[in-house]
Amino acid sequence: MPRYPEYIIQEVIDKNDIVDVVSEYVPLKKSGSNYMGLCPFHNEKTPSFSVSSQKGIFHCFGCGEGGTSISFVMKMENLTFTEALKKLADRAGIALPETNYSDSKQEAAIRDKKELYFEINKEAALFYYSMLSSSEGKAAVAYFKERALDGKCAKFYTLGYSPNKRRSLLDYLVEKGYKEDDIFAAGLASKNDSGAYFDRFRGRIMFPIFNINDKVIGFGARRITEDVNPKYLNTSDTLIYNKSKNLYSLNVARRAKKGEVILVEGYMDVISVVKHGIANVVATLGTALTSDQAKLLKRYFNEIIICYDSDEAGLEAKKRAIMILRDADIKASVMTVEGAKDTDEFLKKYGKDRFLTLINKRKSDILYLMDIFGAKYELQINVEDRIRYISDLLPYLAKVKNDVELDVYIEEIAKRAKTGTQAIYAQLGKTRVVKGDLGAKSPDILPYAGAIVSDKLEKTRELLLSVLADNVSILERFSGIISEDLFENKTQKKLFEIIKEKAESHQRIEAGSVMALFDDDEIGEVTKILTIDAMCDDKSKAVSDYVAAIKQEMRKAKIQALLQSGDMQALNEFLKNK
Ligand code: CTP
Ligand code: MN
Repeated sequence: MPRYPEYIIQEVIDKNDIVDVVSEYVPLKKSGSNYMGLCPFHNEKTPSFSVSSQKGIFHCFGCGEGGTSISFVMKMENLTFTEALKKLADRAGIALPETNYSDSKQEAAIRDKKELYFEINKEAALFYYSMLSSSEGKAAVAYFKERALDGKCAKFYTLGYSPNKRRSLLDYLVEKGYKEDDIFAAGLASKNDSGAYFDRFRGRIMFPIFNINDKVIGFGARRITEDVNPKYLNTSDTLIYNKSKNLYSLNVARRAKKGEVILVEGYMDVISVVKHGIANVVATLGTALTSDQAKLLKRYFNEIIICYDSDEAGLEAKKRAIMILRDADIKASVMTVEGAKDTDEFLKKYGKDRFLTLINKRKSDILYLMDIFGAKYELQINVEDRIRYISDLLPYLAKVKNDVELDVYIEEIAKRAKTGTQAIYAQLGKTRVVKGDLGAKSPDILPYAGAIVSDKLEKTRELLLSVLADNVSILERFSGIISEDLFENKTQKKLFEIIKEKAESHQRIEAGSVMALFDDDEIGEVTKILTIDAMCDDKSKAVSDYVAAIKQEMRKAKIQALLQSGDMQALNEFLKNK
């Protein structure tokens, strides 16, 4: 696989006007110095997808996707970096050199490794799939039948079977030219004490796990007979697979372009829901929901409908997920598969229409908790139960950021627990902020407002970086005044360092090459900053205003923190040292 030096990549970026490239997929309209359109990566009705011809980047202010023309084509066409680079080089009539560059950077090496592991995993998925039509695969096919999975499902998800042998996949892949070390590193082989490799997955139903760009990154593997343990064996983390950062079927769910997504417990649940024609459904990969997964979901959806199993473990998982989703500032609701142990069983027993009814009857997270905690207690007659009821709910109420929303909940809880609202506010360390006739409205119809919190400090930091990135030379005039201390997150600090280096060497920021310095999960933040049009005539004035505002906000935050910690001496020190 050829690696290309940075200057070639930059040439490909420069010779393909990103506005032309994007226009082949998305209609764009000029707006100020940028072009705007409807984002192809998430569902939206008003354009928040911005393309800058001058900077050579795109950024969606809705879902946070961003990058160069190369990453745009990668995402649109599900191509690897090299494939997208080739396509754009062709488009611009640039001949890419054939040779292997040995002056590779570490990053290019990692990129190549990743592509190799994607390839190996894809070959493995196709191998396992092909095993369904072999004699060894009969047991798997019988199992699928028993669980009402047809050939269409198997094909759609490339389900398969791993033969119960020490080396079936290994032999197949080695024959194809892959090295055993790579097969191992891609997560598909295990090693015994004497260092010999053998197939990691044997005699199991195989569920390939795809990333958002439809690349196979790992597998979940289910036993066929109940006497085998564990029930599921999953890929352990590799260079391309991280169980806490991906979700099963997110690649399918995001294409459904729905506002909400159903979160179920298992692979089988997902497949069952999709089989019934509902595509906006995902599952975690053998762990509880993580905050990385919540953030990932937030990029594509605005509501997560938790649909976990109806057992005790399912309830605990729901409570945990609610906390995680509240922390990530994304709307969460809960639907209950009454009369079945899980989603799969519910659909089999009662069918799609009843399932759709459950979706419609879903309750917002806190209302759901109010109901289930309420059912545990005798709120009408038992005074102590009322106290327990409220204290059960307090940790969740503490996560509600929107005052209006909080007010509605507290009002309702007070009613149910026959107490006043003040006591609940006091427990939360808050005083009531809003008073109005909201209590008269049914809380069921209150729109969730948790995500409205706007962070002025973060916005100002982004504006500052955006002006500096466009005019790195300004930095000279502010030496000693602007330092990396003004920024908190690592991406912003890193971008600031790059701007500083460019300023010192009197270079401009080249979006394409700068992007290569950031990790995948930082790109969105970087393109956002580079895309923001601060629209200020007097750049120096803007910079000094931003800096002053940031310092003031940071100071306020510090005082607030000291006040809350109750450390009056530290507070006095801080105020004195102003
Ligand atoms: N899981 C796991 N390892 C296990 C058990 C479960 O990783 N030993 C994960 C799998 O991702 C699984 C999910 O937890 O899909 C839910 O587990 P479970 O309900 O037991 O499995 P289902 O997928 O629902 O399969 P089935 O319907 O066959 O029980
Ligand atoms: Mn299950």
